[in-house]
Amino acid sequence: MKRRKFIKTSALAMASPAILSSDSIRDLQRNTKPVVISTWRFGEKANPVAMDILESGGYSLDAVEAGVKVIEADPEIHSVGYGGYPDRDGNVTCDASIMDDKGQAGSVAYLKNIKHAISVARKVMEETDHVMLVGDGALEFAKSQGFKEENLLTDKALQKWKDWKMEQSLRSEENHDTIAMLAQDKFGHISGACTTSGMAQKMPGRVGDSPIIGAGLYVDNKIGAAGATGVGEEIIKIAGSFLIVEFMRQGYSPEDACWAAIDRLHQRHGGKATFQTAFIALRKDGAVGSAAMNGDYFRYVVSYPGNMEIKSVTKK
Ligand code: GLY
Repeated sequence: MKRRKFIKTSALAMASPAILSSDSIRDLQRNTKPVVISTWRFGEKANPVAMDILESGGYSLDAVEAGVKVIEADPEIHSVGYGGYPDRDGNVTCDASIMDDKGQAGSVAYLKNIKHAISVARKVMEETDHVMLVGDGALEFAKSQGFKEENLLTDKALQKWKDWKMEQSLRSEENHDTIAMLAQDKFGHISGACTTSGMAQKMPGRVGDSPIIGAGLYVDNKIGAAGATGVGEEIIKIAGSFLIVEFMRQGYSPEDACWAAIDRLHQRHGGKATFQTAFIALRKDGAVGSAAMNGDYFRYVVSYPGNMEIKSVTKK
């Protein structure tokens, strides 16, 4: 669809929302199937772990947690967990969120020295009356739950930090590569997870979109789920993942819903936005979609039983 026509269509949809009827929602629900979608080529390593759990009849929440943990533990990935690039002061701080099919949510932000921020987020969801814990409170809670403190700054990331100090520069593609993963299990339960070490060289204390429910991640088991990667400040300001799920509730396909969110970002910047941002979405019937700002660079990975595909976004 041409961009101008699309804007018109979305404007119409916004003016008189055609919220899906209960019959249409029942149709979506009849067609549920196991599927995993995740941001970036991280999915090549993460999706098979999640899909193994789904194929053996496991729960989507276990699948997304296990999937993103693979990336959190990988020292060669410098934007998530162990090996992540540090903030201006040389500290690696992590943000993560998780949501289940019942609409429960947990998150942590500005968490230091814990490799699996996603598992701490799940503990916040399951073991406390709260949704979000940050900083020292999140760390104390993690330790009380048996998580081990460890240094997440690898020699390679430390060297990079020293180089920045010399050069005072950083390529933007090294900045915001979050893993967001969405999955639906054989029983139709949708869950999502999102985890990152955030923007490299960020101000100490900076929190991005990934731990903010509705920004980096949102799940509504009746409709579907969405997740984000990219410039957190921009994604927060449009409540990006929530927005996409609401567009799907209005009848948009997952792909069109993601493009409508990208479009919203363009609208906020007079049509001239260029910052790195991408979204993924999963609908209740197992359909998936993605969109990205200037998305030639962006890849996402979709897995169905026995099949995994690395995909790029279709230009609008
Ligand atoms: N999307 C990750 C961040 O901005 O921190």
